[in-house]
Amino acid sequence: MPQVDANFFSYLYLDLRNERKHMLFYLTNAGSIKGIDAIEYIELFEKEAKEEMAHVIEFQNMIIGLGGNLSDLQAQGYERYEIFTHSEDALKYALSMEEEVVDNYVRRIEMAEMLEDKTIKKWLEVFYEKQIEKSQADVDKYKRLLNY
Ligand SMILES: [Fe+2]
Repeated sequence: MPQVDANFFSYLYLDLRNERKHMLFYLTNAGSIKGIDAIEYIELFEKEAKEEMAHVIEFQNMIIGLGGNLSDLQAQGYERYEIFTHSEDALKYALSMEEEVVDNYVRRIEMAEMLEDKTIKKWLEVFYEKQIEKSQADVDKYKRLLNY
């Protein structure tokens, strides 16, 4: 018996596709960026790809725990991402990507407020707070690297 309604699941599936996008973005761009200044970014992006893979696993487990279905069409695949050769362009894109999901996750916590089940409400709040913590830390780190 699913713990949240279909509308709520469609947002959770979108979040999952976004985490897959992040993982694939870092993985692919770790290979596509060029130049001597890319050396440190390659390392950073490879590390980020691994962290994003952990997020994908966390989202998948959370969704299954709530009674969702990973073979649902909306749960399949990933959101589109761009591929860069200049590390600074890639980093700017990564910044906007992480800012976007922080906004999404703040909204998700607000949506969870409306749920009747107190345990599910608290679980989603804790889950998304953890994701915000990671993505906002990346936002701060990338801004610093970009001299913003
Ligand atoms: Fe993530």
